[in-house]
Amino acid sequence: MGSKLLCLVLASIVLAYYVYSPIPEDSEEHWKVMLITATFKTFRNLAGVAEYLGLMHYMDVVTLIGTMQYVAPMSDENVIVTDTEFNNVTVRLYLPRKASDGLRRAVVYFHGGGWCIGHVGMKPYDLLARWTSNTLNAVVVSVNYRLAPKYRFPIQFEDVYSVTKFFLQSSVLSQYGVDPDRVCVAGDSAGGNLAAAVAQQLSEDPEVKTKLKVQALLYPALQVLDLNLPSYQENENDPILSRSLTVRFWSEYFTSDLSLREAMISNRHVPVESSHLFQFVNWSNLLPEEMKKDHIYISPTYGSSKLAQKYPGFLDLRAAPLLAGDAQLRKLPRTYILTCEHDVLRDDGVMYARRLQAAGIPVTHDHAKDAFHGAMAFISFPTELAVGRRLLNRYIEWLNENL
Ligand SMILES: *[C@@H]1O[C@H](CO)[C@@H](O)[C@H](O)[C@H]1NC(C)=O
Ligand SMILES: *[C@@H]1O[C@H](CO)[C@@H](O)[C@H](O)[C@H]1NC(C)=O
Repeated sequence: MGSKLLCLVLASIVLAYYVYSPIPEDSEEHWKVMLITATFKTFRNLAGVAEYLGLMHYMDVVTLIGTMQYVAPMSDENVIVTDTEFNNVTVRLYLPRKASDGLRRAVVYFHGGGWCIGHVGMKPYDLLARWTSNTLNAVVVSVNYRLAPKYRFPIQFEDVYSVTKFFLQSSVLSQYGVDPDRVCVAGDSAGGNLAAAVAQQLSEDPEVKTKLKVQALLYPALQVLDLNLPSYQENENDPILSRSLTVRFWSEYFTSDLSLREAMISNRHVPVESSHLFQFVNWSNLLPEEMKKDHIYISPTYGSSKLAQKYPGFLDLRAAPLLAGDAQLRKLPRTYILTCEHDVLRDDGVMYARRLQAAGIPVTHDHAKDAFHGAMAFISFPTELAVGRRLLNRYIEWLNENL
């Protein structure tokens, strides 16, 4: 077993270099980006080989990227950090030590990782939450929702929703000294997906009296209807988040059934009965000219209705918030959206920003031309990137001004 694993590691490192793809020309700090992308590739290849040999589930290998970076909840001179449970879901809680004139702001944060990997204890997430709490003098609730493949949609959504609802109760807010008028949800990637879905569902939930002040969506995934958007085509082989890995994450969110993944790979998973939903992801209307470039809009190809009957999750707003109608969008709070040029999910965020603006929601849309998916996770040694710091500072500055 030991030597088999060693062979696997070696084989996948060789493979990592073999399949090396050029990184974007305008990205800073090339060697670090190369180190990062080589590491990601190695894990992905390792995962692929381990799965092929029947040794481990693909996601169990990719998860190791997060496990290696685990840090225990540890208070520092500025913030008190504890792991606890809200409504039976584990959360990591960050309480500032600084005195406060009045009630504090609060951020409920959902980490990324394709609904399959990631943890509140991953060093970059712990740092981000700590930094948010200290800089904004805010309470931060970072949610450790359950993951696929063990738990499927809608468990991930339900976990983050029940934590948010629990926290928004006035008795809980007052216990932590939080101002009910200054609470937000935020998240990156799959966490941005969950944050957008939570904000939508909260706006329609008669049981929730406290409304969110803002939502902040960092390179979020927002739809799984069209997996051939221009951003998917341009960044198909992105080293951090390739198209095939994105499809894998999406399909694992709903099922292990290969037929769904294969249908998604060929972008033929949506049945004709759902054709009306394509208006909400029609990039030929919703993308600005500079992002359409010379891409040509092709009408959707429809798939079997059996898949959608079996796995209705992929057409569900709680998984695909971009499919919400305008009336629902109009109920949303002020919004921050970050998109990165080198990211398959770029167009999801761009189209959501466009639709929210059209619905009259105040939106700040920052588009980072030199950044790639997940850039904000690279804010600590040995993989600290200037671009990650810059995006982080901008996001915190926005929260400081708007929350
Ligand atoms: C939490 O989980 C325990 C054990 O699984 C269960 O008995 C309890 O009812 C749950 N509480 C809530 C609030 O869901
Ligand atoms: C998408 O938009 C284009 C251009 O406005 C239009 O021709 C096409 O019919 C639309 N397709 C769908 C499925 O909404």
